[in-house]
Amino acid sequence: MTTPFQADTQAIALTPDGPTIPALGVGTWAWGDAFFWSYGKDYTEADLLAAFQASLAAGVNFFDTAEVYGFGESERLLGRFLQQVEQPVAIATKYFPLPWRWSPKAVAETLTASLDRLQLDAVDLYQVHWPLDFFMGQKDLINALANQVKQGRVKAVGVSNYSAQQMATAHGYLAERGIPLAVNQVQYSLLHRNIETNGVLDRARELDVNILAYSPLAQGLLTGKYSASDTQKPEGARKLNPRFSQSGLTKIELVLQTLQAIAETHDKTPAQVALNWLICVGGVVPIPGAKNARQASQNAGALGWSMSATEHEQLARVTQAWR
Ligand SMILES: NC(=O)c1ccc[n+]([C@@H]2O[C@H](COP(=O)([O-])OP(=O)(O)OC[C@H]3O[C@@H](n4cnc5c(N)ncnc54)[C@H](OP(=O)(O)O)[C@@H]3O)[C@@H](O)[C@H]2O)c1
Repeated sequence: MTTPFQADTQAIALTPDGPTIPALGVGTWAWGDAFFWSYGKDYTEADLLAAFQASLAAGVNFFDTAEVYGFGESERLLGRFLQQVEQPVAIATKYFPLPWRWSPKAVAETLTASLDRLQLDAVDLYQVHWPLDFFMGQKDLINALANQVKQGRVKAVGVSNYSAQQMATAHGYLAERGIPLAVNQVQYSLLHRNIETNGVLDRARELDVNILAYSPLAQGLLTGKYSASDTQKPEGARKLNPRFSQSGLTKIELVLQTLQAIAETHDKTPAQVALNWLICVGGVVPIPGAKNARQASQNAGALGWSMSATEHEQLARVTQAWR
């Protein structure tokens, strides 16, 4: 399949009767996480509050978190930030199917703990973090989520890291309860295009499931600030990732040059172009991580314009090897 192109997508309905979100959100894995990222070293709570406020000021009012991010700290930070604003904010969080969570009661209890940290009565989107089956099967898990929708504590249900088949199965279980599957959150960027070839993107379209694209900037590589000709190295665990090594950076030179050229045409940055490319696929909501106000406002600038179909195709061509 060639990559679909759809200009002018600015908002997405999570479900036909559910919340509407902008076609771009903010990922908050790095918020409070000192293990993979370097929270407390090169950015602090004050930077994250500024990122939160800058996103809202730019109209980006959708935030993705998870109970496991920073061992609950990401949800706690968001909870505190939410207390400081009046405007509506859509929150997505995730349930992790740990082996000892064998009874559907665990879903209710885990959601209660997330809602407490977030200081909310309901979340807009509750996602299963990974398709792991230990002692609770998928049907029981999905039914437990559906019960939370019926109780009004969850507005829409999603899954994450599900294959095309796993997504279709979850969709079927939810349909039995009259509930749509809102999203499948998967890794998708110009440097990670597998969902175009493994059936996930096609099947999501058939089933009317939105894609939340995680790591949409390839953890910073697509911003252009890490390059073979530069000495800047990333903080945290990315130092060990071969993609950030000299040879890894050399392999993406043409991609970065192409992003830069398109960025100059539109008076944008490479990060904004990389995110706009995903938005223009249609039905795809990138959720870039932002550690400060500058990154948050820049990423929000991926909304409100569209590259041309020719530019979209050009970027698809130079990233063909990452499909
Ligand atoms: N469901 C899952 O299993 C799963 C897995 C991974 C991620 N996620 C979600 O997806 C979100 C985003 O993914 P991600 O954080 O892995 O990767 P990403 O969004 O591709 O990259 C984020 C990193 O890129 C850098 N950056 C962001 N905007 C920038 C800008 N405008 N200019 C320069 N640098 C910029 C920042 O790091 P530096 O400044 O340090 O370079 C930032 O932490 C996560 O926060 C999380 O919500 C979900």
